[in-house]
Amino acid sequence: MKLRAYHHSWQQVDLTTLPAPANAPAGPELYRQFYIELEQGRGAPDQHWRTTKRTLGEGIAHHVFEQWESRFGRKPRILALAVGLGVAEGVWLEREYDVTLHDCQETSLRTLRERFPQVPVIIADLRTIEIPAKFDIIIILASEYMLSSRELASFLRVAKSSLAEDGRLVLHSVSILSMVRLAKECVKRFMRHREARVFWGWLRTPSELARSAADAGLRVESAYRVGVNGSTTVLRKRWRLLDTRLTLHDESVLLVLRAPDTRF
Ligand SMILES: C[S@@+](CC[C@H](N)C(=O)[O-])C[C@H]1O[C@@H](n2cnc3c(N)ncnc32)[C@H](O)[C@@H]1O
Repeated sequence: MKLRAYHHSWQQVDLTTLPAPANAPAGPELYRQFYIELEQGRGAPDQHWRTTKRTLGEGIAHHVFEQWESRFGRKPRILALAVGLGVAEGVWLEREYDVTLHDCQETSLRTLRERFPQVPVIIADLRTIEIPAKFDIIIILASEYMLSSRELASFLRVAKSSLAEDGRLVLHSVSILSMVRLAKECVKRFMRHREARVFWGWLRTPSELARSAADAGLRVESAYRVGVNGSTTVLRKRWRLLDTRLTLHDESVLLVLRAPDTRF
């Protein structure tokens, strides 16, 4: 099950003044303008958001990268897609992981590139991306929502074909359709239907995400429910999650996916 999501603002930037496609989710041009607005001080990513992203980066390093490292005896080569300001990715670079960064625009990457000038960067639209090498881990955080189901399946296939022999694809979705969110969306649409808004992307149930992965020939190796305790992001393993059509609350979900023919 999935539902269109609409927003008026994000990080205190008014999205309705930015260039948005008529009947498709916000595209690269809107994000380019959005990050210019942020850079020029109009809008504000709050400190709580930054802290939760940093601790998410730490959690993923612990639960996913270190597991891979202990299994295969070396650090993984990582491709991080649609990184935005790259807060979680900054944690991995500080820990000396070999990370290639990607986004559809360059503005949001400036600060991270100043801190890590050697880091390889790919600028491309996710919907048409060609990944130029093989990676042990390909990871996408909070960014699959802008893809339609067909684009998501196609992207997952492209990513799968760019995984090295023991590769894993890691998908973190914050756009989970829950009962609470469904109710909130209905109220919001009723109360604010006359206001300007931007088509942002799709909310999906965990089972919808798992189905897209299966359609792309990927198997779920592990699934985590991602919650926030104070300012700390916490990952908890949850198997039953994948059968869930609607979760109760707006939790986010992290899936570790692998091709069925990988050795371990
Ligand atoms: C919600 S932000 C998430 C950023 C980061 N992963 C995070 O968790 O903070 C979505 C990111 O996707 C990028 N993006 C949007 N549309 C894209 C597209 N069609 N192709 C590639 N990246 C895109 C935006 O520039 C933005 O950085």
